[in-house]
Amino acid sequence: MTKKKNTPKPVKVCAGPNCKNRKSKKIAALIEEAVQAAGAGDRLRVKKCACAGKCKHGPVVLFAARGLVFEGVKPKKTPEVLQKIIAALQD
Ligand code: FES
Repeated sequence: MTKKKNTPKPVKVCAGPNCKNRKSKKIAALIEEAVQAAGAGDRLRVKKCACAGKCKHGPVVLFAARGLVFEGVKPKKTPEVLQKIIAALQD
C-alpha cells in the first residue's frame, strides 16, 4: 500500500480585474514571500485565480482547504492572513 502524498494546498489570490486594480499581484507576492519565510512552502502553494465573485471586497484571498475567505487584504495584513492559514492547517 502506498502512503498518501501530501500535496501543497492552494492559497488563491484573486487576479480578476477589480482585485488586480487593488494590487492583488503585490498581495500574492507578499504572501508567497511569507510562505517561504515561514518554511511552509511544502504545505502551501500560492496561486492566482479568476474573479472570486466578491469584487466589492477585494483584494480577495481564498484558502478553500479550510473554507477561509479573506476580503480587503492590504499588504500590511498579509502576515496576519498567512498566520491564520497556517493555524487552520493545524486543525
Ligand atoms: S475581481 Fe477579485 S473578486 Fe472579482
